[in-house]
Amino acid sequence: MTTGLDREVRWGIIGPGGIAGKVIKDFPLVPNAVPVAVASRSQQRADAFAAEHGLLEAYGSYRELIMSDSVDALYIATPHPQHRDLVLAAAEAGKAVLVEKSFAATVDGATLMIEAVRRHRVFAMEAMWTRFQPAIVAVRELIDAGEIGEPRQVQADLGVNRPYDPADRLYDPAQGGGATLDLGVYVVSLAHYVLGRPDSVLATGSLAPTGVDADAAIMLGYQDGRIASLITTLRHQTPGAARITGTAGWIDILPRFHHPTTFVITRTGEQPERVERPQTGGGYAHELIEVTEGIRAGRTESSIMPLDDTLAVQQTLAEVCHQLGVEHREDDHALS
Ligand SMILES: NC(=O)c1ccc[n+]([C@@H]2O[C@H](COP(=O)([O-])OP(=O)(O)OC[C@H]3O[C@@H](n4cnc5c(N)ncnc54)[C@H](OP(=O)(O)O)[C@@H]3O)[C@@H](O)[C@H]2O)c1
Repeated sequence: MTTGLDREVRWGIIGPGGIAGKVIKDFPLVPNAVPVAVASRSQQRADAFAAEHGLLEAYGSYRELIMSDSVDALYIATPHPQHRDLVLAAAEAGKAVLVEKSFAATVDGATLMIEAVRRHRVFAMEAMWTRFQPAIVAVRELIDAGEIGEPRQVQADLGVNRPYDPADRLYDPAQGGGATLDLGVYVVSLAHYVLGRPDSVLATGSLAPTGVDADAAIMLGYQDGRIASLITTLRHQTPGAARITGTAGWIDILPRFHHPTTFVITRTGEQPERVERPQTGGGYAHELIEVTEGIRAGRTESSIMPLDDTLAVQQTLAEVCHQLGVEHREDDHALS
C-alpha cells in the first residue's frame, strides 16, 4: 500500500525490450528515483540489460522481481496483452506501476487492472508520455485559459512505415499487434484529453495478413457537435501532426505531436505565435517524475493521466478494433 515515501523511489523494470532501453536512460534526470533492478523471461537478457545500464539486480523471472523487497515501483514495458497479469501481481505485492501504452489489450483487462490497483491502493498510471511533454502541458494551459475559445475539433495523424513481418510485435496478434493499440492510442488519447469521452465512434481501415489492423481512420462524435478526425497506419510514415481548433482560434502541434517541441497558436484574426517547449532528455523523464512524485506524496493516481481516462481511451480503442474486425485477447501466461 502506498503511504508516501521520504526516501528515493527504487524502480524495477519488467521487459527489457526496445522502449525499456530508452526510458531507463532518462532516470538520471528524475530527482528521487533510482533504477535498481530488471526482470526478463531470460536470465541472460536480464543480466545483459543490468550490465549495460548499471543495475544492481537482474531477475530471470518477472514474478521474482514483483515479489522483491528491493523495489517500490515497477515500469512494465512488455507488449500490451502481457500487462494485465503483471499489474495484478504487482498490486497484490504492494508495488506501484507505470504501465506502457496501451494500458491493456482489452477493456476487461484494463478494468481488472484498475480494480486491483485501487483495491490495494498502489499508485498506477498508463505511460502516456505525451501528456507530460512540456509543449503539451503548455498547450493544455492555453486551452484552459480560453486562448482559443471553446475547443471543438481535434485532428491528428500518426503513422510509421513498418514493413510487414508476421513475427514483428506490431503484426503479431499474440503481442496485441495492430496500428490502433500501438499508435492509434496517441491520437485517441489526445482527443480524449481535449474533448473528453466521445458519444460515438466510427472507424474504417484495413487489416494485415495476420488479421491485425494495418490502418484506421477514426471519427469521434459528441452530442453537442464537437468532433475528432484521427488517422493511424503501419503502412507508411505520416507527418504526425495535430490541430486543435476552438471557437476563437487553433493550435497546431508540430510533428511529431506525441513528443513535440513546438506548437503554433493562431488566435482568430491575429498573427500566428510560435512557441518552443523542448523536452528533457529523451522525453520520458516527465512521466517518470509524475509517478515518482506521486508515490512520494502518497497519491495513487495522476491527475493528468487518471485511470478513468485510461479506461475511457481503452473503450474507444476497443470499439475501433471491433468495427475493423479485430478482437484482442489478454495473455493468460504472461507470468508463467
Ligand atoms: N512510450 C513509447 O514511446 C513506446 C515506444 C515503443 C513501445 N511502447 C510500448 O511498450 C511496450 C513494449 O514495446 P517494445 O517496442 O519495447 O517491445 P519489444 O522491443 O518487443 O520488447 C518487449 C519486451 O517484453 C517482453 N515480453 C514479455 N512477454 C512477451 C511476449 N509474449 N512476447 C514478446 N515479448 C514479451 C520481452 O522481454 P523478455 O522476453 O526479455 O522478458 C521483450 O523484450 C508496448 O506496450 C508498446 O506499446 C511505448
